[in-house]
Amino acid sequence: MTALLKIENLSKVYDDDSREHAVIDNLSLEVEQGEFLCILGPSGCGKTTLLRCIAGFERCRGRILVDGREIAGPGTDRIMVFQDFNQLFPWLTVERNIQYALKCQGVRDRRKLADIAADVLAKVKMSGFEKHYPYQLSGGMKQRVAIAKALALKPAIILMDEPFAALDAITRNTLQQEVLAISRQEKCTIIFITHNIQEGIVLGTRLMLMQHGGRVAMDLRNPIPRPVSPSSPGYGALWDRMHAALYATQEV
Ligand SMILES: Nc1ncnc2c1ncn2[C@@H]1O[C@H](COP(=O)(O)OP(=O)(O)OP(=O)(O)O)[C@@H](O)[C@H]1O
Ligand SMILES: [Mg+2]
Repeated sequence: MTALLKIENLSKVYDDDSREHAVIDNLSLEVEQGEFLCILGPSGCGKTTLLRCIAGFERCRGRILVDGREIAGPGTDRIMVFQDFNQLFPWLTVERNIQYALKCQGVRDRRKLADIAADVLAKVKMSGFEKHYPYQLSGGMKQRVAIAKALALKPAIILMDEPFAALDAITRNTLQQEVLAISRQEKCTIIFITHNIQEGIVLGTRLMLMQHGGRVAMDLRNPIPRPVSPSSPGYGALWDRMHAALYATQEV
């Protein structure tokens, strides 16, 4: 079976004031359809850069293939959800935020647009907020809408860059469970960056640890059957292992 996402020898160098800064050096990676890949790693090791390369936002060396086709830039098959609460257009209602990219794709039928918005808002438990503006929503609600916006485009891969990092612990746990439920129902492929080991173990079917230079320090299948909780057998040992490995990468 060919992988849904195939990254071959990816390298990314930023040019800063005529100084070259190599962030990712020859990274290769495959992600299967339906995988929930959680990526952890020290600050500045290149996690966001990797997601931006996959999203097609960055010029880079190497090849990135989705479903066997090399990407040539951004596309609605790869949608990114950010940490920032301000990723919605403030002048558009929730419903219109969700419909914006669909309209850009040429969907004009008002009934269809309304149905899609209603469907994805139900999935993120935001039914009834169609006519609200972003300023009327809490941070957690804005993140739900950002996820709904991604779902509306039915992307092959959802790229999530610490989407819950700025939320309080209870909202974060709730949203984790909801993203898990969505990933099961929709059979989505998700690449999710987090600094939180608990979040990685609860969400990921696969856990990857990046280190500076964008190298892969650890890549393992999550052995704990879902639903995962801190009382699941093996949770403590896996947490300890990830924690030790994460700290080892900080020292590199
Ligand atoms: N647009 C840019 N121009 C120049 N350098 C950049 C740019 N974006 C990121 N970098 C540099 O690339 C490196 C990796 O940044 P990146 O944002 O990918 O790290 P990260 O692993 O996501 O970190 P964090 O966990 O703090 O979000 C950093 O040293 C950063 O300074
Ligand atoms: Mg980052």
